Amino acid sequence: MQDNVHHADASTFTTTDKSQVYETAISSAVALFESQRFWATNLANAASLMWHAFDAVGMHVNWAGFYVVQPRRLQKPSDADTEGDKEVAEGKRVGKRTLMLGPFMGKVACQTIIFGRGVCGTAAEAGTTVVVPDVEKFPGHIACDGSTKSEVVVPILDDAGAVRGVLDVDCLVVDGFDESDVQFLESLAGLIGRGCEWDL
Ligand code: SME
Repeated sequence: MQDNVHHADASTFTTTDKSQVYETAISSAVALFESQRFWATNLANAASLMWHAFDAVGMHVNWAGFYVVQPRRLQKPSDADTEGDKEVAEGKRVGKRTLMLGPFMGKVACQTIIFGRGVCGTAAEAGTTVVVPDVEKFPGHIACDGSTKSEVVVPILDDAGAVRGVLDVDCLVVDGFDESDVQFLESLAGLIGRGCEWDL
């Protein structure tokens, strides 16, 4: 992104046409990540791009952001899935990995999610996108906000294919995401996975 261009302009979309908005958002992400590889910076700007893109096309998105995988070296027994697991609680074995809340747009959200739990933990564990048209029909959905009705979670994979986090978007209406929305989010997650230094 050129120095003489206001960065905020990247969050301003001059059309309501979905494919154009998504194309512009992806081009902005490419430009932003070309000059920056620090994960927190890129996730923060990506959250802004998603939020404003969805607003421009009239979607009722109430949360758009990221969870990042907690590094093993920072993992404490109390962060692990200790339900009935004495060995983990006593620090003799490391439990399941944990997703930590990262940059986002929207209301305050759950701070940690263990792999395998909720939509985010399911996508992180499987390494694949999870689309939930109706959160009430997803067993184990974690309701950070009771007004969320549908959700998409896309894993973020690094160059080696390791899961480094997830991209999560929530919507106030049932069946709030179509195929083009999911494609946009998968493209963005791909750029993020390749465009960041995952030294956290
Ligand atoms: N609903 C998610 C939790 C994260 S919030 O939506 C921001 C889940 O079930 O994993």
